[in-house]
Amino acid sequence: MSRISEATAIAHPNIALAKYWGKKPIPGNYPAVPSLSVTLDGMMTRTVVRFDSSLEVDRVVLNGTEAAQSDRAHLRVVELLDRVRALAGDTRRAFVQSANDFPTASGLASSASGFAALALAAVRAIPGLDASLEQVSDLARQSSASAARSLFDGFVELEPERPARSIAPPEHIDLHILVCVVTEEKKSIGSTSGMQTTALLSPYFDSWLSTAPVIFSSMKEALAARDWEALGELSEKSALAMHACAMAGGIVYVRGISLDLFAAVRGLRASGILAYFTADAGPHVKVLVRDGDVARATDVLSKVPGVLRVLDTRPGKGATVIASSPEAT
Ligand code: ADP
Ligand code: DP6
Ligand code: CO
Repeated sequence: MSRISEATAIAHPNIALAKYWGKKPIPGNYPAVPSLSVTLDGMMTRTVVRFDSSLEVDRVVLNGTEAAQSDRAHLRVVELLDRVRALAGDTRRAFVQSANDFPTASGLASSASGFAALALAAVRAIPGLDASLEQVSDLARQSSASAARSLFDGFVELEPERPARSIAPPEHIDLHILVCVVTEEKKSIGSTSGMQTTALLSPYFDSWLSTAPVIFSSMKEALAARDWEALGELSEKSALAMHACAMAGGIVYVRGISLDLFAAVRGLRASGILAYFTADAGPHVKVLVRDGDVARATDVLSKVPGVLRVLDTRPGKGATVIASSPEAT
């Protein structure tokens, strides 16, 4: 007789307006700098975790394809499952099925929604394991620091060695994030490795470590005051500082199209539309606009040559469990 129990969770990526880049030189995958993000509706990961005592190994199906046991992606999932098993005192292996409805490992925060959904589904798939949302977020953070933020609603902060927490609900400020998708391809350097190289080789890494917390504090104030322009200016500043620091260490995520989009956003601003850009570890560009400017901005951005599509996203909810069936068969 095998013991089977399962849960399904969904989570959304988040975009950091004040970026995390670089880790504390201690175990646990703690970010070196504080960050402030928005959890995005309109993009999603759905993950099913089924613990099954008849399985001899963990099996992971990612976007419809089973990962080889030796894949880094498989290993990252197993590491999270191991932490959950240790917490629960449960030795069962799991069958994991997960899919992102947007490009994976491309700079659109798939690790954030992926590990948030996985941590929540894994914890809730174990009957009687009573973990708080904060504990689930901590499990997600150990796999990918940005994932800690995707458990929570709206505007979320993550400070080094502190639990992530929501600091404002989704409706706090009139905001859309237009995600300009420019490729379906995976990036050649993952975020973990990109930030390791930056820390080792960038002559600007120390100044990033001292600048990022200042940008973060000013951004928190701007958000609390609903100061839209300051929030936008600081978002651009954080993104540019992060990319400049990475580039000086040889890590280049932006492409020509990213720079064209930056210019288009500043063009929108010059024409009287409040629009600001940010970009994570990839070539895609995310644009902050107010509700009344979405149509105009989308029109301009989607005409920039090379833009595949523009997704209209808004601040949204954290991760949720959509089904669970603890049962013995
Ligand atoms: P991104 O910019 O998309 O966050 P990262 O380099 O940070 O890129 O992380 C990508 C990695 O995250 C993938 O190679 C894979 O290991 C993991 N990942 C992405 N989506 C999922 C998912 N749905 N379930 C489990 N792991 C995932
Ligand atoms: C540029 O959280 O993907 O998106 O912790 O190594 O998995 P790991 O890195 P990850 O890095 C995200 C970096 C960023 C900025 C941010 O989300 O804060
Ligand atoms: Co990531």
